[in-house]
Amino acid sequence: MSELIIGGISAESLAKTYGTPLYVYDEAKIDNRICEYTENFKSELFETKVLYASKAFQCIELLHKIEDAGLYLDVVSGGEIFTALEADFPADKIYFHGNNKTPEEIEFAVSEGITHFVCDNLMELKGLEQEALKQEKSISVMLRLNLGIEAHTHEYIITSYVDSKFGMALESEEYLESIATIESSRWLELEGFHSHIGSQIFEMDAWFAAIDKLVDLVAGFPQRLSLNIGGGFGIRYTKEDKPLSIPEVVAQLVHVTEAALAKRAIQINALMIEPGRSLIGEAGTTLYTIGYQKKTPNKHYVFVDGGMTDNIRPALYQAKYSCDAVTQLGKEKTNKVTIAGKMCESGDVVIEDTYLPEVAQGDILAVYSTGAYGYSMSSNYNRATTPAVIFVKDGVAKEVIKRQTFKDLLRNDVRR
Ligand code: LLP
Repeated sequence: MSELIIGGISAESLAKTYGTPLYVYDEAKIDNRICEYTENFKSELFETKVLYASKAFQCIELLHKIEDAGLYLDVVSGGEIFTALEADFPADKIYFHGNNKTPEEIEFAVSEGITHFVCDNLMELKGLEQEALKQEKSISVMLRLNLGIEAHTHEYIITSYVDSKFGMALESEEYLESIATIESSRWLELEGFHSHIGSQIFEMDAWFAAIDKLVDLVAGFPQRLSLNIGGGFGIRYTKEDKPLSIPEVVAQLVHVTEAALAKRAIQINALMIEPGRSLIGEAGTTLYTIGYQKKTPNKHYVFVDGGMTDNIRPALYQAKYSCDAVTQLGKEKTNKVTIAGKMCESGDVVIEDTYLPEVAQGDILAVYSTGAYGYSMSSNYNRATTPAVIFVKDGVAKEVIKRQTFKDLLRNDVRR
């Protein structure tokens, strides 16, 4: 009988050893993807930096890997900074993002030696300047711009449309005053500009348009600046998804930037990209145990022991996934089923209308490409405990995040 092998170990035995639901990462896939980025995102004309957008999935073990590979880090909160510092990630390789960094977060970041800030608005910039002055620290500022370019993807995850909460519009008062604030500040220095045009993108045109606008913009400055063109590289969730090849995409981005610079006869210090999902998403698989089944007039439900608490994406974005019953691999997928979770919410569906062979209680189900925004968006709704996370490579499995226990759920409850 055929088996699903992840990193040299059968999924069934991983489920037995660690229980379900379980997030399993094939480390070799992460390593390969990192290599695809670092090997192909290169230029003779400027420095290139790959920043891992750690909101996609953060844990100490992964951060070690990211650092070992020489990547930089994009963080968006005090919690993400704290985790990075606990993993001994170098503070000067961290870029601090976010549209509403609190004064406490800014104070914390500056005091911990974070020197790169991606500023989203003028108020934030003024607060940052005060903090830099107070602590007498120099800060490099990237301004996050809303270039008004829409990437073709799901509306909820487009972050660069005109009324976006993220970034400042070019030539707006906010932008002009931000530039003036940086220029008149002893402690702030303009590092460059940032734009993130969306997520799960399958076409390159929007990035090319963004590069063109950004290069135009930096051409107006006397000093050499840097550009960050964000993340958003799409991945394969189902066979309908046709992701771009990462080596090709990043080589193209460099090439298009070089051409745009040559056309205007200018130079930049660095070009940065910020992949999250594409670095980690396809390496992750969630294993569930199948429980009961139920037939309604129009549906055949197969229930699993997790759901929206470990993967909110189907409920939040109508995201699609593919799966296999790993204990019935190789059998014909004769049944049209809807895989639903165990949470008290009608929208708690993992996969609507998919095909499986005949399955029984106790069978193990693998849902693929759950490595990004799964664990990181998990919740304790219904007091569900967060699953363990396992990294597997060359037949060796290691637990990198432990499964929560019921006791963990009560950690912050105050008892009478
Ligand atoms: N840089 C910035 C400024 C971002 O806002 C994001 C994602 C990224 C990089 C990384 O994008 P990626 O390469 O992962 O697409 N929770 C949603 C995605 C939200 C993305 C928010 N920003 C999801 O599960 O699809």
